[in-house]
Amino acid sequence: MSSELTAPAVPGTRRGEPIPDELLDGGERMTREELRGHQLSLLQATLRHAYDNVELYRKKFDDAGVKPDDCRRLEDLSRFPFTTKADLRDTYPFGMFAVPMDQVRRVHASSGTTGRPTVVGYTENDLSMWADVVARSIRAAGGRPGHKVHISYGYGLFTGGLGAHYGAERAGCTVIPASGGMTARQVQIIQDFEPEIIMVTPSYMLTLLDEFERQGIDPRTSSLKVGIFGAEPWTEEMRREIEERMNIHAVDIYGLSEVIGPGVAQECVETKDGLHVWEDHFYPEVVDPVTDQLLADGDSGELLFTSLTKEALPIVRYRTRDLTRLLPGTARPAFRRIEKITGRCDDMIILRGVNVFPSQIEEILLRTPAVAPHFQIQLSRRGRMDHMALRAEARPGTGPEQREAAAAAIGKAVKDGVGVTVEVTIVDPGTLERSVGKIRRVRDLREQ
Ligand code: DLL
Repeated sequence: MSSELTAPAVPGTRRGEPIPDELLDGGERMTREELRGHQLSLLQATLRHAYDNVELYRKKFDDAGVKPDDCRRLEDLSRFPFTTKADLRDTYPFGMFAVPMDQVRRVHASSGTTGRPTVVGYTENDLSMWADVVARSIRAAGGRPGHKVHISYGYGLFTGGLGAHYGAERAGCTVIPASGGMTARQVQIIQDFEPEIIMVTPSYMLTLLDEFERQGIDPRTSSLKVGIFGAEPWTEEMRREIEERMNIHAVDIYGLSEVIGPGVAQECVETKDGLHVWEDHFYPEVVDPVTDQLLADGDSGELLFTSLTKEALPIVRYRTRDLTRLLPGTARPAFRRIEKITGRCDDMIILRGVNVFPSQIEEILLRTPAVAPHFQIQLSRRGRMDHMALRAEARPGTGPEQREAAAAAIGKAVKDGVGVTVEVTIVDPGTLERSVGKIRRVRDLREQ
């Protein structure tokens, strides 16, 4: 890979090299028509497998009056019932597995914010397919055999670390399994082992960037060329910030445990225009989150997925709670893209009736030169009124007057752009809690 960032793309960022044809796999070479035929037969088999082997699906399909054979065209999928996180919780831990336990090679779990974790399982074929889609994602990001990949997603029950790990091995890369935490040591390892690629949450990348600077190392001089960032929402402004400070390409990877883990969709480095859904394994739909009505491509709503090739945990019309829209493919024409996800239905703050997403605040902060993109939002009740307090960190070297001006500018931008009043405090550099994995930006004390 060239160390030079090439041709200009979307404002403020630059595109990478397109992938050579010989590195595309069989799925990526399909035409849209071929893909649709392939999807239909896989979808029919998945619905049958789910119905025959999982009691919950059998009951749901029966209650909705549909049988697997009713799916004759891809469009017929919309007649089938949704699956939610609650279904996985209600059947905790293994009730939705569609194969006998002796065929399950691994489980992962995601904690969520309330109650029991949701548990997911993989057969040997599932693990292999997962490694394939992550390897494809790494190639789409610019990774090539022989590259070293530093993985700072957490290893363990979370799918990030091990998912990235086996994908990078499958891509022919050398894995550095750093996991999350021990930030000073991570910087040392990056300096010594000279990886070309890093896979990490964007918020932990910021923590690492600060640590580079704390150790007196210019992050732009590191060996890294590409960052593959996901597991939490991040904005175009954050992309620019990271690309500039590190002189790398920052691309987006998406996924969720219930569907497989990382590697459901990936942004291509040559276009950086949203994430191609690997539709030969995961079939996307978008519905209106309130009316549940299926939406046309191009319309924004809640993303759903149906797995097409999974054995241990076939998933049908899973409600991700993630908000986005489907767009036609570009760098991989057969696969539709999802627009960068900047929020979830349940991330949304409703403040005195106005909808606010943390990503809107992130955008404003990154446009304010005196502050760093570290922030926390606290919601509370003052009398009968909702109150939003925002704490953001000053960049090193900003004096009291600049901070005061920045606080006023942020307050005004939030009022004008988002429509809510916020109390802004600019705190000293390094004082807010840092992320070592997925960051939690919002503390809601209103019900306490
Ligand atoms: O976060 C899997 C993953 C690991 C994806 C590493 C990418 C990289 P869960 O813990 O089940 O799985 O959380 C899934 O995280 O529904 C989204 O709300 C959010 N999410 C994941 N990737 C992105 C992204 C992993 N690129 C939930 N942009 C999803 C925005 C993301 N949100």
